[in-house]
Amino acid sequence: MDDSAKIEERDKRVLELYERVLEVEQRLIPTGLHVFGRPSDTREIIDLLRMVASFDRPELGIRSLTNLIAEGLHLPTYLRLLKESPASEQRMLERERVEAIARQSISIFVSAQNNDGLPPAIAFLWEQANISPDDSRQIFAMLTKLRAQLEQNHETPSLMRALRGEYLEPGPGADLIQNPAILPTGRNTHAVNPYMVPSPVAFERARPVAEALLERHVGATGRYPETIAMVLWGIDNIKTEGEAVAQVLWLLGVKPRRDSLNRATDVEVIPLAELGRPRIDVVMTISGIFRDLFGTTMGLLDRAVRRVAELDEPEDLNFVRKHIKEQMATGDFSFDEAVVRVFSNAAGNYGTNVNFMVLESQWEDSAELGDLFVTRKSFAYGRDSAGRNFDGREAKRLLERALSRVEVTYQNIDTTEVGITDVDHYFEYLGGVSKAVEKHAGARPVIYLSDTLSPNAKVRTLEETIKLEARTKALNPKWYEGMLKHGFSGVAEIEHQVTNTFGWSATADAVDDWIYDAVAETFVLDEAMLERLRSLNPHSTRTMVGRLLEASGRGLWKAEQSVLEKLQDAFGKLEDQLEGVVTR
Ligand code: BEZ
Ligand code: MG
Repeated sequence: MDDSAKIEERDKRVLELYERVLEVEQRLIPTGLHVFGRPSDTREIIDLLRMVASFDRPELGIRSLTNLIAEGLHLPTYLRLLKESPASEQRMLERERVEAIARQSISIFVSAQNNDGLPPAIAFLWEQANISPDDSRQIFAMLTKLRAQLEQNHETPSLMRALRGEYLEPGPGADLIQNPAILPTGRNTHAVNPYMVPSPVAFERARPVAEALLERHVGATGRYPETIAMVLWGIDNIKTEGEAVAQVLWLLGVKPRRDSLNRATDVEVIPLAELGRPRIDVVMTISGIFRDLFGTTMGLLDRAVRRVAELDEPEDLNFVRKHIKEQMATGDFSFDEAVVRVFSNAAGNYGTNVNFMVLESQWEDSAELGDLFVTRKSFAYGRDSAGRNFDGREAKRLLERALSRVEVTYQNIDTTEVGITDVDHYFEYLGGVSKAVEKHAGARPVIYLSDTLSPNAKVRTLEETIKLEARTKALNPKWYEGMLKHGFSGVAEIEHQVTNTFGWSATADAVDDWIYDAVAETFVLDEAMLERLRSLNPHSTRTMVGRLLEASGRGLWKAEQSVLEKLQDAFGKLEDQLEGVVTR
């Protein structure tokens, strides 16, 4: 390489690193638990309003602030700036300029509200980015309302009313950024009309995500994945009116067809010429909550697969058809067996129990975790060719066969509030199915998560997502100090992060050693910190230290001997304290 090529290479690398740092910095994280009845503080309000303002709100006729600024400055769209900034310094500078103006306008708005004449934030946007006062007035009218709602909190009086058996106004349940109409809180949360799922907005929003998922995999491997195993949850699809459902439909290359009552009960095939890529085979592993809430949608998904299977198309452009033919050619499966793709628990059952197996350390070989997933989730849902319903029929052989083809496993994440190391359910589902694929396909799948909260529908690998979560939560002083303000519960939250991270080691071996090294250093080797944790909640502290030792003992973390000795020492002392051997 000559010097200029070297310099170019170096600059490219620096820009990529810078993009990573920005990603960590800009990630919205909860900086404490929600306290029932307490309104948001100013900093939280600024962050939330900025996020809300960075999405188009077609239902309100409002465009995103970042798009308006980019347009006013005659720059490419904000989406293009986001996509191109990791590879172009100029785009990075343009993107930062747009974001700085957006951020500053929100701060000005929050700090100077009761001004006469042209409010300062509107004047600022006009001067800095040529945004017409009419356009920005619309945004700030929305933000003014949201701000007032965030500053008030009726949760306690509402709870009192509910306990007295009085009427509570209903309100939608969702994520604030997705649907600002959830405010004010303290109302009677209602869910969704299952016949609406996926809504037209959800279907539109799902398209770029499905495309980004495929692009990401094609970029890494040079080919489309023939089969993707996807996890579908109920609450997520309530909040998004079915974005994950719509992603399945896009992957298959169909769209919902609505009947005369506007109910999505059937699908319409998108022609291959329009789709411009093969139809992907999708194996769905569905939560018990989804199954209970979305009976019609389960039927819609089964029908979508059957419709695609029946299309007379080349096999290299219709992987569903290709796989069914191959499976039937073995002579062991009928069409009605080979076409099943919708799997959930037996009727009345919920969850995979993989999380309990991990939390209780009740496993020897990690393959047991995948086996448990299959045992729990191997019940088929749908209707056969004669229209007979087979909901809840045991179909382990069919699930195992379907998993044997899987190259990619995937779950959609649609909230800033709960990430993949905050709760044990992500590793129980996505980790569980990935482990099962490893056994039945003979190779570990590539595991992806989407982040539909960033405006550019980012798709990350599991490993990237774990690093991002570790940096922004467990290892981020802003996060853990926020948690520690809650005392006992805060320590429990820190322990949950460590245990759920461990869950990703157990199910997918997806955690780098440095993450455990840094957790040990931050929470155990730092004696003052260990003492704080111990005095606030010795039980969770013991569990956390024990989990680190378990990671090492199972060969999932290569720790330094000296670190292990300190962990063992701390664990022994915690045991003694809890068993009363040493009274403090
Ligand atoms: C669900 O919404 O379907 C779900 C929520 C938590 C854990 C598992 C599933
Ligand atoms: Mg490792």
